[in-house]
Amino acid sequence: MKLRTYFLWSAALAVCLATACASHKPVAASQPATPVAAVAPTPPIAPVAPPVPMDVLTPMIASPAVAVPPPAYNGPLPNTVLAWDSELKSIDVHEGDAQGHLSFSFTNVSAADVVISNVHPGCGCTAAELPSMPWTVTPGTNGTIPVTINLHGKTGTLFKNLTVTTDKGIKMLNFRVNILPVALPTMTEADRTNNLKIALADRQAVFSGDCAICHVKMGEGKYGKLLYDADCAICHEGEHRATMVPDLHNLKVPTNNEFWKTWISHGKAFSLMPAFAQSEGGPLSEMQINSLAVYLNFTIPSKATP
Ligand code: HEC
Ligand code: HEC
Repeated sequence: MKLRTYFLWSAALAVCLATACASHKPVAASQPATPVAAVAPTPPIAPVAPPVPMDVLTPMIASPAVAVPPPAYNGPLPNTVLAWDSELKSIDVHEGDAQGHLSFSFTNVSAADVVISNVHPGCGCTAAELPSMPWTVTPGTNGTIPVTINLHGKTGTLFKNLTVTTDKGIKMLNFRVNILPVALPTMTEADRTNNLKIALADRQAVFSGDCAICHVKMGEGKYGKLLYDADCAICHEGEHRATMVPDLHNLKVPTNNEFWKTWISHGKAFSLMPAFAQSEGGPLSEMQINSLAVYLNFTIPSKATP
C-alpha cells in the first residue's frame, strides 16, 4: 500500500525526484497500468507531505494536519534569505553502526522573519529535535536541523535529502552517507605475541576490549557459515595461526552434532579454545551455537568412526 501511495504521488505530481524516490522507482515503473475496476477501493491517502522538489511551482496538494500558514511562495528559497553552512554534506560511518548523524545550520540573513512550516526528510532518516512547527526565525538568528539516519541493513553509499518548506520558498538539502567496511587494525608480531600471552592467562580475554573488534564484532547477529567465518576461521583457518590451533577439517576423533556444540559452548580449560556460550561469558546465543554445530556437522563429516 505504501508503494502504491508513492506511485499515486508521483503520478499526481508528475515528478519523481531521483534521490527521494530512487528506491521505489523500479517498482512504480514496472507496475502495469491496472484497470481501475480491478483494484480494491483505495483508502484516502494519509496526509503525509511528499518530498517537494524545488521546481514545483504548483501549490502544495497536501498540507500537514496541523494548522500552519501555507507557503506564500513555492519556488526555491534564495540564499539571500537563509544562508546555509552547506547544501550538500557527506559523512562517513562504519558497517554495523546503527545510526549516522549530521546537521545543517543556517542564518536568517534577510531583514524579515522566515517561517519554517515543514522539514521533510527523504526515506530512511529522521530530523530529530526540531522546534515545533511553524518555526519562526527572526532576522540575524541561527538555526540547526539535526538529522539522524537509520543505517540498519544498509551498505554502500546512500544519497538522501531533506526538504525545508518556508514562507519564503523551499530549500532542498542533500547529503551523502558513506558506509565504510569495518577496517581491521593490522597486527605486528609483537601484537600476536602479546595477544597470545593475554589469552594464555585468560582464554576468555578474546571476547573483551580491543580483542572483540576482531574476535567478536564481525560475528554479531550471524549464523551458520557466516558465523563460522567470523568467529572460528579467524583462529582455525588463519594463515599465521599458532601451532596449537588444530585444523578442524582433519580431526582424529569421531564428531557429531553434540561434539561441535560441546566444544563451541565450553571450549577447553587451560587451552586457548574459549567458551562461546553466553552462560560462560561468551558472545554466542544457544541458537547461534546450534547453527554452527549443524553447519560444521554437515560440512565436516566425521572422519573417524567411534
Ligand atoms: C582464540 C582462538 C580460537 C577461536 C576463536 C576458536 N578456537 Fe577452537 N580451538 C582453539 C585452540 C587453541 C584449540 C586447541 C585446544 C586444545 O588445546 O586442545 C581449539 C580446539 C577446538 C576444537 C577441538 C578440536 C580437537 O582437536 O578435538 C574444536 C572442535 C574447535 N576448537 C572448534 C571451534 C569452533 C567451532 C570455533 C568457533 C565458534 C572455535 N573453535 C573458535 C582456538 C580457537
Ligand atoms: C586485528 C585483529 C585482531 C585483534 C585485535 C586480536 N586478534 Fe587474536 N587473532 C587475529 C587473527 C587474524 C588470528 C589468526 C592468527 C594470526 O593471523 O596471527 C588471531 C589468533 C588469535 C589466537 C590463536 C593463537 C594464534 O596466535 O594463532 C588467540 C589466542 C588470540 N588471537 C587472542 C587474542 C587476544 C587475547 C586479543 C586481545 C588482547 C586478540 N587476539 C586481538 C586477529 C586479532
